[in-house]
Amino acid sequence: MKITVSVIKADVGGLAGHSRVHPDLKATAGIILDNAKNSGKLIDYHVTAVGDDLNLIMTHKEGENSSYVHGLAWEAFVKATEVAKKYKLYGAGQDLLKDSFSGNLKGMGPGVAEMEIEERKSEPIAVFMMDKTEPGAFNLPIYKMFADPFNTPGLIIDPNMHDGFQFEVWDVIAHKKVFLKTPGEIYDLLALIGSKGRYIVKRVYPSESNKNMPHEPVAVISTDKLHEIAGKYVGKDDPVGIVRGQSGLPAMGEILEAFSYPHLVSGWMRGSHNGPLMPVSVEDAVPSRFDGPPRVIGLGFQLSEGKLIGPADLLGERAFDRTRDLALKITDYMRRNGPFEPHRLPEEEMEYTTLPQVQKKLQQRMVDL
Ligand code: 13P
Ligand code: 13P
Ligand code: MG
Ligand code: MG
Repeated sequence: MKITVSVIKADVGGLAGHSRVHPDLKATAGIILDNAKNSGKLIDYHVTAVGDDLNLIMTHKEGENSSYVHGLAWEAFVKATEVAKKYKLYGAGQDLLKDSFSGNLKGMGPGVAEMEIEERKSEPIAVFMMDKTEPGAFNLPIYKMFADPFNTPGLIIDPNMHDGFQFEVWDVIAHKKVFLKTPGEIYDLLALIGSKGRYIVKRVYPSESNKNMPHEPVAVISTDKLHEIAGKYVGKDDPVGIVRGQSGLPAMGEILEAFSYPHLVSGWMRGSHNGPLMPVSVEDAVPSRFDGPPRVIGLGFQLSEGKLIGPADLLGERAFDRTRDLALKITDYMRRNGPFEPHRLPEEEMEYTTLPQVQKKLQQRMVDL
């Protein structure tokens, strides 16, 4: 049976600045999705939040880019925005960049990660959702899961994984894409995805030579760039991703292992700083210090005829305590650099913040050397 998993997110208002989502916003979105489930159009759904981002996890048979499912998410965000406006939440409607829905969410503000798959005999999936960072924050953990045998011994041990994987990488500035095979092309892959503001892992597939696995996506990441749509800084493009696990794919523990190191990502305060990505529980997905540090949550589900059995809160668990401790140590270290790079993002990445306005004013006073 073909099932589509759609994860669609938007920041439609924060409770006390950019910190978290008011429960009434989640409840409002939940009512819209519940009606859709009762009418049989959605198989199942789960509403959650990371920081100020409202996340809708939906399963259905409408396929990817369905105008029905995208329209439903838009309606849920619009209704939640009405509540956010009534409460005067911060940045109410922040990510709804267009006035009306026109058939697809692409270019409208919300972030979208979707995959249409043939549900396997047992289909474990993990949905990862981040706040105070950008899609490129997924590059390193996705690489580790699917291409690094020091993270994923299954690449060596499991004959079904031995052929490796195929990465679909998007250049979100030149609007091009390239497919690269691992392990053969890992140097080329890393040459691109190390530049995580520009080259983003969009999807991963099993290797084409792997006859035991269907050539379907096994991971997908949202890549929506808000500033490109709005033409100015309107918050970071806090991303979401879906990863399938087990039976010829990384085991759930190998998937989670990729988040055991709090790597540096861009985002954090005013979307203008580098900081560690801290794995947390849903309960702790509430940025605070310096509007961060950037956070990631992971929810595990077993699909059962499209039903979302779960969720299992995957990253809140004790085994990640030391990752969080390290993230907090890095937080102290980075913060002491104040407004200096590389804590503050490099000049070219500050282009869509309000910094150029300040610099422009000073240009008038510049004299030739
Ligand atoms: P599968 O190959 O069945 O996914 O088992 C691997 C595993 O779970 C080891 O941790
Ligand atoms: P969000 O992108 O999560 O709304 O955060 C914006 C910001 O400026 C944080 O300081
Ligand atoms: Mg916000
Ligand atoms: Mg956010």
